[in-house]
Amino acid sequence: MESQLALDLVRVAEEAALESARWTGRGDKNSADGAATTAMRQHFDTVAMDGVVVIGEGEMDEAPMLYIGERIGSRKGPRMDIAVDPLEGTETVANGLNNAISVIAAAPQGSLLHAPDIYMHKLAVGPALAGQLSLEDPIEETLAKTSRILGKSLSEITVSILDRERHQPMISALRTSGVRIKLLSHGDVMGAIDTCTDSGVDLYVGSGGAPEGVLAAAALQCLGGEIQGKLIPGSRQDVLRCQNMGLQNPSQMLRMEDMVGKEGVLFIATGVTPGDFLPGVRFLPRGRAETHSVIMYSSTRTVRYIRSIHTLKPSVHPIYAAVSS
Ligand code: FBP
Repeated sequence: MESQLALDLVRVAEEAALESARWTGRGDKNSADGAATTAMRQHFDTVAMDGVVVIGEGEMDEAPMLYIGERIGSRKGPRMDIAVDPLEGTETVANGLNNAISVIAAAPQGSLLHAPDIYMHKLAVGPALAGQLSLEDPIEETLAKTSRILGKSLSEITVSILDRERHQPMISALRTSGVRIKLLSHGDVMGAIDTCTDSGVDLYVGSGGAPEGVLAAAALQCLGGEIQGKLIPGSRQDVLRCQNMGLQNPSQMLRMEDMVGKEGVLFIATGVTPGDFLPGVRFLPRGRAETHSVIMYSSTRTVRYIRSIHTLKPSVHPIYAAVSS
């Protein structure tokens, strides 16, 4: 699974990143997302696999492409579950901010959790804390255990969390404890990945999108970290959506295996705007552009970085074509 498929999927993520980066700072998140989605969908057809979208742009009636259940790929090749976020950080690109990425995860069919587009409570940690904390513990206990395990005082621990009104009680508790806090404006796939890099972040906590939780689980499985999640159905309809997707008990604790299976998962991301983990798209003279991507594979724990120079083609996205003409 690792070699040819991974390279093919990198091309797909690169195309999505190149298209959405054209919208950097233009204040139009829908066009940035549409451009990434169109490019990703078109290029998936060139990949030798029989894939099914399990995490995508929404359910069939709400998304024209990359909807949950859509079959993608050339149909010749391995049968794969595919999770995508063509643009993780739509507002980020619209506002010209850092850390937007195009993301794909792939695993043998039947492995990836079919997560509805609702919120999920999350706790993500790097290898030093993997298997040692519980999402069900109060935050104070989690911090005390983290301090003990890492041999750091609370003031030396950094916790990252989305800067949202719903997190104010949690942010107050973190401030009272004395830890450092990294407040994220958007993008909790990168927030979770930060716990496994040299970013200095020890814990990622709080709620974010459930689909992003599965994508983060794919990345952390490859990096030796851990994410635990618990879906937050906001209504009876959400509970039914969870059940229709095969989650009989929507409030059960979800561990890595529940989200990405045991058979090996491939995680691919291309930077759209500059980030700590991946540089963003750089548009170069003479109609060229540079991208940086990562390919990670859980079975071998390999992490490969790919720098590509592209000769730009005319945009595939009709909205951009209209603006630029
Ligand atoms: P989009 O790329 O779809 O805009 O999502 C960005 C994001 O920040 C995710 O990373 C995160 O899981 C989710 O939005 C959080 O949602 P909300 O902004 O509603 O708190």
